[in-house]
Amino acid sequence: MNHFEVRGGELHCEATPLSRIARAVGTPVYVYSRATLERHYTVFRDALVLAGLGDPLVAYAVKANGNVSVLRTLGNLGAGADTVSEGEIRRALAAGIPPDRIVFSGVGKTRGEIEFALRTGVSEINVESEPELKLIAEVAESLALRAPIVFRVNPDVAAGGHAKIATGKAENKFGVSFAEAARLYANASNHPHLNPLGVACHIGSQITDLAPFEAAFSRMRGLVEALRAEGMTVERLDLGGGLGVPYFDMPDPPGPADYAAMIGKVMAGLESVRFAFEPGRVIAANAGVLLASVTHLHERPEGRRFLVLDAAMNDLIRPAMYDAYHDIRPVRATDATPVPCDVVGPICETGDTFTRDRPLPPLKAGDLVAFMSAGAYGAAMASEYNSRPLVPEVLVDGDRFAVIRRRPTYDEMLALETPAQWR
Ligand code: LLP
Repeated sequence: MNHFEVRGGELHCEATPLSRIARAVGTPVYVYSRATLERHYTVFRDALVLAGLGDPLVAYAVKANGNVSVLRTLGNLGAGADTVSEGEIRRALAAGIPPDRIVFSGVGKTRGEIEFALRTGVSEINVESEPELKLIAEVAESLALRAPIVFRVNPDVAAGGHAKIATGKAENKFGVSFAEAARLYANASNHPHLNPLGVACHIGSQITDLAPFEAAFSRMRGLVEALRAEGMTVERLDLGGGLGVPYFDMPDPPGPADYAAMIGKVMAGLESVRFAFEPGRVIAANAGVLLASVTHLHERPEGRRFLVLDAAMNDLIRPAMYDAYHDIRPVRATDATPVPCDVVGPICETGDTFTRDRPLPPLKAGDLVAFMSAGAYGAAMASEYNSRPLVPEVLVDGDRFAVIRRRPTYDEMLALETPAQWR
């Protein structure tokens, strides 16, 4: 459930008409609903608690939408942060999320990032490989502390979704194999500068079937038991993120309650473990839209109709990158008969096509449209391609809104560049 709905003939975010935001901030612009973010977080966490999973750490995946105001909204409810770079750790800290709720993941952490994470005192560093384990041990020794580590294990489970976002197969670059895990865990247990806390997995994103999760989580439980049987202490089990959301083109996928109930069953009777989760999309996707204006409608005499928007693939890359579906809604509701359109941006490549042959009501220059479900991996993946200023972001709270990231000026866009001083 989200708080984008038509009121009085116009699409609103909570009690704020989207046209009001377009007038004040211009388009394209991302618009997020505070109430929806809060609801999604609360529903997710409550479902886990209800399923008997104790007091789980819900470390929201910053990569989905790392705007500091979004992080602060979730952090105020008790959310932690799953981070994959020094920049993301800094965002989480800037949002007031305490270090003991921050998880640091990622396959290629640099020495500098590891040092920063250890000095910050993050709750766990998720180790993805043996070379990385060595590096963490070295850095921890140089700082004279014990690094809290969790081994990310690759459960070798295929998890549907798009190939570019599946992470849990042995051929993917993520995590140590089950075979390596026990040996590395034992080595780390005997190391004066490493403090192995537990194990983690993350099998992919936009997963709309519980079976692969169940397979992976059962294997993870088996691993916890096997490690314990060898005398090792395992107190944390991080089950990653990945739960899918409805993108309006599919029947409702399993929600947090189904997901949590399945985990409750798989983990029944497993004692003395604190569970951690790293949800991103399920919290943020349906809490945001990308608002755009129609620049013009180009109707070819042969019949193709191109609806050209002022938003482009640099603002929302998911359709170009993953053939992702986003519902596109006119902000002003109409009963006019829909006609098929190709919805495109102004960027000079054919990939800048959001969709083809999508039935839409007739729209003209200046009309507003909203790309639904764009709150996750939307602004976070935006770029300045074609020298288009980074898209701004707005957070709505009832009938008020705040510009939480403004549109840069052209001077700001050019400010980091220095012409080389040679001829
Ligand atoms: N934890 C780890 C270690 C991850 O790699 C990810 C996402 C998450 C958590 C959060 O997954 P979520 O709950 O959001 O599915 N850009 C792509 C999605 C990439 C996901 C990468 N990892 C897209 O737009 O679909």
